[in-house]
Amino acid sequence: MSNNPLRTLDGKVALVTGASSGIGRATTLELARRGAKVVASARRRAEIETLVAEIKKDGFEATGIVADINKENDVIDLVAKAVATYGRIDVAFNNAGTEGAFSPFVDQTNETYDTIFNANVRGVFWSMKHEARAMLAQGRGSIINNASMGGVIGFANAALYIASKHAVLGLTKTASIEWFRQGVRVNALCPGLIDTPFQDRIWPSEQAKKDFGAASVPGRTGTSEEMAKVVAFLASDDSTFVSGHGLLADGGYVVS
Ligand SMILES: NC(=O)c1ccc[n+]([C@@H]2O[C@H](COP(=O)([O-])OP(=O)(O)OC[C@H]3O[C@@H](n4cnc5c(N)ncnc54)[C@H](O)[C@@H]3O)[C@@H](O)[C@H]2O)c1
Repeated sequence: MSNNPLRTLDGKVALVTGASSGIGRATTLELARRGAKVVASARRRAEIETLVAEIKKDGFEATGIVADINKENDVIDLVAKAVATYGRIDVAFNNAGTEGAFSPFVDQTNETYDTIFNANVRGVFWSMKHEARAMLAQGRGSIINNASMGGVIGFANAALYIASKHAVLGLTKTASIEWFRQGVRVNALCPGLIDTPFQDRIWPSEQAKKDFGAASVPGRTGTSEEMAKVVAFLASDDSTFVSGHGLLADGGYVVS
C-alpha cells in the first residue's frame, strides 16, 4: 500500500466499459493514476490499444479487452478475462451507453427503443450480473453505473433515453439492497451536461452546445475529468457506507 494520498485505489482491479472515449476514457486514466490495475474495455480495438499504451507510458498498469455490451457472451468473456489477468475485480464502472436518436415523443421509433434499451439497460444489466458473480464470490466490490441526471428528471425529445437512465437507477437500487451485506456496493453516477462526443452528436453545432451550457444554471458544461474524480470516490474505500445512491454531478442543474 502506498503512502501517497492520491493513490486511493492502490492494489484494486478496476474494469471500465465504453473506455474508448469521453467519460469512460477519462475515468480509466484517473483510476489507473490512483493505483488501480485497469481493464479498459470498448468495441474499438485501436482506441483501446492507444489508451492502454498511454497508461503504461505513465508507469501504470492496464490491459485492453474488446467487448460489445450488446452481446452477453462478450460481457461474460470480459469478466472472465479480467479475472484471469488480475485475479479479481474490485471496481466496475459500467459506463458504455448510447443516446440513440432524440426526437419528439410521438416520433420515437421501435428501432431507437431497441438501440437505447439494448445498450443502456440490458447491457448494464448483463455487466452488473456477471461482474457481481465475481465480486460476490470475493465478498467485496464496488459497481458504479453511469446513469444520468436524466435518470432523475425528464428532458423533452429524449423519452427513451430518459426512460433507460431511470431504469439504470432501478437496477442500481435493487442490486444494492441485495448485495451490500455481501460486501458489494452499487452506486450510479448521474452526470449533467458533460462535454464529450455524446454531446457533440446531440447538438446541431458547437455554438448551440456552448450556448445551452452557458444558459443553464451551472453556466457551463462539465468535463469528463470532473466525472472521473466522482467515480474514483465511489470506487474507493472513502465511500464504504455509500450504496444504492445516484450521485448527481451536474453543477446543480437538477436543483434549479
Ligand atoms: N455527456 C453527457 O452529457 C452525459 C450525461 C449523462 C450521462 N452520460 C452517460 O455517460 C456515458 C458515457 O458517455 P459519454 O458522454 O462519455 O459519450 P461517448 O459517446 O464518448 O461514450 C460512450 C461510450 O460508450 C460506448 N458504447 C456504446 N455502446 C456500446 C456497446 N454496445 N458496447 C460497448 N461500448 C459501447 C461508445 O463506444 C463510447 O465509447 C453514457 O452512458 C452516457 O449516457 C453522458
